[in-house]
Amino acid sequence: MKLENIKSELNKLKNNNNLRSLKSYPNNLLNLSSNDYMGLAEDNILRKEFYLKYSNLPLSSSSSRLITGNFPLIEELEKKLKDIYGKSALTFNSGFDGNCCIIETFCNKDTLVLSDKLNHASIHDGIIHSGAKLHRYRHLDLDHLESLILKYKDEFSDIFVISETIYSMDGDSVDLEKLINLKKKYNFTLMIDEAHSYGVYSYGMAYELNLVEFIDFLIIPLGKGGGSIGAYLLTDKILKEYIINKGRKFIYTTALPPINIAWNLFLLEKMNSFQVPRNNLNELILYTHNLIKEFNLTTFSTSHIISILVGSNEKIDIICKNLIEKGFLVYPVKEPTVPKGTSRIRIGLNPNISQNDIYNFLKELKYELNSIL
Ligand SMILES: Cc1ncc(COP(=O)(O)O)c(C=O)c1O
Repeated sequence: MKLENIKSELNKLKNNNNLRSLKSYPNNLLNLSSNDYMGLAEDNILRKEFYLKYSNLPLSSSSSRLITGNFPLIEELEKKLKDIYGKSALTFNSGFDGNCCIIETFCNKDTLVLSDKLNHASIHDGIIHSGAKLHRYRHLDLDHLESLILKYKDEFSDIFVISETIYSMDGDSVDLEKLINLKKKYNFTLMIDEAHSYGVYSYGMAYELNLVEFIDFLIIPLGKGGGSIGAYLLTDKILKEYIINKGRKFIYTTALPPINIAWNLFLLEKMNSFQVPRNNLNELILYTHNLIKEFNLTTFSTSHIISILVGSNEKIDIICKNLIEKGFLVYPVKEPTVPKGTSRIRIGLNPNISQNDIYNFLKELKYELNSIL
């Protein structure tokens, strides 16, 4: 930890146009970078209704769940989740904590973890901390996953497979039915992360496809389409009990404040009723994908998350700066978040964005891409 080394690392990042910094922007820009896919976090009417119902809740829980932080609202929330999903529920303070905790608690040096190459950093960190043997299969390539299972199944009795549903950087999705069929065939432990599908798919993709019962660990981070903070885990009763006893990132942390738990409960109870914004979002997704084809732009996306590949860090910085000046709030996504040379402009659609907004944005983006070639 020598200061000269730290300075030199930062300089290297700067020279590669890859130095991160914290910025804030005026709120009159069209925000295309938010993960509030259902517009729930921004919904003033919903917020007013919430504060009328829950007017004076504490802003801290002041203790971990195992001491005095297990207040009745959390129990009510987890009971409601159990009624909906038919599995025991446990709340984590964040998706990052939840992913790390599950993997660290249930995997060890005798476990083989097979993880999609583009799984989130929290999944990767959990695997590294657990000491498990790791193989990453090609992104969404379930044939490659099966070949790895066949190769290693005699060597490892404990195989743990991890996938997300919709991927945050490419906006593409796993074939969940095919993955569950593999699970039925080979009987591995399956963990699924619904961070980018919850809300857009109401209670999530697994729920909509009636597949929850086959997933050992279904984790639902709430900071995106869930319009909140924290994460739900749906799992078997005995596995929940094990985390309560052994999961360090569950045990040794202050529970989410009652106000956040109440907001989670409030949204959960309404999640199925957001059909109008959900339909509007689906129409916008269709419109945007058609327009991307018309403008001859390239994306791997099939969903509300759309990445347009630019490639170089230098070009993407200029394009984003110009687009921000034109009123579109877009961030460049660079390595290490995405592989080197695949820097991209990533947008997240939501029902508050109009078709006209998207038309203007894509027109300007096309112009910028053509101008910089
Ligand atoms: C797939 C995925 N899982 C987990 C997380 C972490 O969730 P949280 O922001 O609640 O820590 C994220 C978000 O950043 C994510 O994209």
